[in-house]
Amino acid sequence: MRRRTQVGIVGAGPAGLVLSHLLHREGIDSVVIEARSRQHCEQRVRAGVLEQGTVDLLTETGVGERMKREGLIHDGVEIRFREQGHRIDFKALTGHGITIYAQQEVVKDLIAARLGAGTEIVFEAEDATVRDFDSTKPKIRFQNRGEASEIVCDFIAGCDGFHGVCRPSIENALTIYERVFPFAWLGILAAARPSSEELIYCYHNRGFALHSMRTPEITRLYLQCAPDEDLAEWPDARIWEELQRRLATRDGRKLTEGPILQKGITGMRSFVAEPMQYGRMYLAGDAAHIVPPTGAKGLNLAVADVRVLAAAMGEFYASGNVGPLEHYSETCLRRVWLVQRFSLWMTSVLHRIHGDDRFEERRQLAELEYLTSSHAAARSFAENYVGLPMATYNS
Ligand code: FAD
Ligand code: DHB
Repeated sequence: MRRRTQVGIVGAGPAGLVLSHLLHREGIDSVVIEARSRQHCEQRVRAGVLEQGTVDLLTETGVGERMKREGLIHDGVEIRFREQGHRIDFKALTGHGITIYAQQEVVKDLIAARLGAGTEIVFEAEDATVRDFDSTKPKIRFQNRGEASEIVCDFIAGCDGFHGVCRPSIENALTIYERVFPFAWLGILAAARPSSEELIYCYHNRGFALHSMRTPEITRLYLQCAPDEDLAEWPDARIWEELQRRLATRDGRKLTEGPILQKGITGMRSFVAEPMQYGRMYLAGDAAHIVPPTGAKGLNLAVADVRVLAAAMGEFYASGNVGPLEHYSETCLRRVWLVQRFSLWMTSVLHRIHGDDRFEERRQLAELEYLTSSHAAARSFAENYVGLPMATYNS
């Protein structure tokens, strides 16, 4: 099978799907190639925090209806340390809040919208390769149910996540900036009512813990653990015991427990590939950069990238102007590095590193004291957490 389209997109995660959606609105045709099944993409448990800018974009472009109905709006978060909570009031500090709506729900809404509009998404595409991006006719080749297939396009968007094929195929042209952390997160989804109305980021001597949620009946919780932690050593009772210990408060409040529906371990890394483009190939989202999850930024950053890319492609097809496309990487990287900075800062303040000196512990506590007692510090935190402005190519 051979097919032509304007933009060939590799990956049906948030980056690829939002890009296809935005291009469609600009009258630009795309085909999405995805290695996994539709069901897998729609059930993969990942992020849950949407910045205001992400919510606005999804709403304004017509895919925010269910999110508006089912998303939980939070106007602040709790920072807990020394067994005491301190609220950071985002709304008062910035005028904005965040929305809790699971990544797989965003993905479901986007897949339904794409298929509804007639966009082709090839699920379970095997052995994808990208080629000829230094020509005007780059190509994506793959196996589709045993049939050799090729998509010839004007541009390729590499939205295939950190382990995809697009970034490695231009590796020689890239500079990599990377930091791998000596800890990971053990995350669970539990059929238990959230124990607090808002998220709780908790600093504890035994390690970081995070209380989040998905719905009024489902809690999402995370524990700092070792990068090579064996899930088999974490029966449900041990997970709850550790969460109760780390999230304990002086007034003796307990977490509501319930059956654990899902468990997983997420590694932590900071990673940026520069530039985010080569010839007619553009990288977006996790394919180009990874942030540690502490700042809840991965998905939001992916959306910010493709917003810039869709606008730049729109400009190219409308007027032939290649300027915005040429500046794609530069435009995105400004925000990417600000978000890297914030995610790294949150990570370094909230996680205990085994064998760390006592100076480091005192420094972390001083950071937390400052964050929760200074209006300026709280405002800076809030401004970053609810989301820095999303750039387009000319801002
Ligand atoms: P992805 O969502 O990774 O999408 C890439 C898509 O490309 C996938 O569907 C993949 O199957 C497909 N693909 C890969 N290779 C190929 C190929 N060769 N051919 C075709 N398709 C391919 N962020 C948070 O803020 N909080 C969290 O708690 C959190 N937890 C996470 C847990 C895990 C296990 C991971 C991996 C990420 C987590 N993130 C979290 C980050 C956030 O989910 C990502 O930043 C976000 O998914 C980025 O979207 P994306 O579209 O760029 O990449
Ligand atoms: C969630 C994930 C995060 O990485 C985070 O910082 C906050 C919340 C979540 O899955 O709900």
